[in-house]
Amino acid sequence: MAITLNTKYLRKFVSDSEFSAMQPFVETAHRLVTERTGLGNDFLGWLTLPNDYDKEEFARIKKAAETIIQTSQVLLVIGIGGSYLGSRAVIEALKSPFYDSLTKNTPEIYFLGNNISSNYFNNIISLCEGKDVCVNVISKSGTTTEPAIAFRLVKKYMESRYGKEANKRIYATTDKAKGTLKTMADLEGYETFVIPDNIGGRYSVLTAVGLLPIACAGIDIDKLMKGAADAVEKYFDPNLQKNDCYKYAAIRNILLRKNYTTEITVAYEPSMQCFQEWIKQLFGESEGKNNKGLFPSSMIFSTDLHSLGQYVQQGMRNLCETVLWIKDVQYNTTIGEDSRNLDELNFLAGRTLQEVNEKAFLGTTLAHTAGGVPNTVIEIDEMNAYTMGQLIYFYEKACAISAYLLGVNPFDQPGVQLYKSNMFALLGKPGYEDKKEELGKML
Ligand code: PA5
Repeated sequence: MAITLNTKYLRKFVSDSEFSAMQPFVETAHRLVTERTGLGNDFLGWLTLPNDYDKEEFARIKKAAETIIQTSQVLLVIGIGGSYLGSRAVIEALKSPFYDSLTKNTPEIYFLGNNISSNYFNNIISLCEGKDVCVNVISKSGTTTEPAIAFRLVKKYMESRYGKEANKRIYATTDKAKGTLKTMADLEGYETFVIPDNIGGRYSVLTAVGLLPIACAGIDIDKLMKGAADAVEKYFDPNLQKNDCYKYAAIRNILLRKNYTTEITVAYEPSMQCFQEWIKQLFGESEGKNNKGLFPSSMIFSTDLHSLGQYVQQGMRNLCETVLWIKDVQYNTTIGEDSRNLDELNFLAGRTLQEVNEKAFLGTTLAHTAGGVPNTVIEIDEMNAYTMGQLIYFYEKACAISAYLLGVNPFDQPGVQLYKSNMFALLGKPGYEDKKEELGKML
């Protein structure tokens, strides 16, 4: 079971010599990552994590998941950005976008604290009615406003329902020693899981951040880690011709320099939508700095071909596409014969939906390529926990290499602070008085 990069639709956009010319740059980026000498090298824990993760904690995650599955019909996962996107992505991709509504012996999983909408919050709380609930609050810093507010509200809700027993239903995933959430967890006696110091939020899906909610959905986290561990080896070779992960990073870099400034990650499975969001965060926060970086966007085809397809085909020519093509699907419905054939679809009788989806993929790729949109295809044999582990690691490493090729630090996000301090000032947080005055003049 594998993931393969198919570059055949790129021929008219990237020449062999342009590609080969990337070899020395990729080698430098490879050394910055593997020798841990690049910018942000304090945050390279994800690099070897699939092999050297904390086995004792891993066993505790599985045990906690079992307890949650046995005692609850709902798990509330509180977190934002890297503290929720990965687990949500894996659950939707491996189970279903309709996971919560399906008949199953694992809890419904609702994600909150990833926005400040009062309606969203109240809708989720009302979904908990009559069901037993557990909570996994996740924040590396322990101080992020959105999840902190959600947790304050959820804590009260849990206490009103379970009294002192609420503490046994709350699991905190946070820094091993510091931060408000850690202090609170110690005081209240919540079971805690650790986000290692050397792994940033958007690289944390294979830590307890992602693993606990994923395990609660009944997904085999051993297979997930095995897929990632095999990817560590698979994507280690500095030779560009032999390493699909580095190939992908090099292609992105070449295309950006040719003014393809927006990368659309395309999937033909709606279940990949949240995974696309995870990719957008990964690349957006890692590359988008110093006025550099491809703008990461995403589309689901064929759905979006009926809304954005016109733009992709004939709009501004700064788009490139990376297609996630899943070859084998779990359910494959066959289209039947209809005696009256009023819809004129009898030519499809006996063929499967996946076959039609594949022809849509091929037809679209050829059309967009002809329209001047370079297409790179990531072919995934089958979507399962193992291939998902590989895919996660493929993207994590490709992102680090891509950012080093651009000359930026992949692991910081200085640009996300400004909205926060403006919001605090406008809310009257102590210490922000001057800022409040300054902003007041602009509003
Ligand atoms: O990738 C990142 O570092 C961010 O997106 C964080 O994950 C996000 O801001 C949440 O931070 P925290 O886990 O500290 O609450």
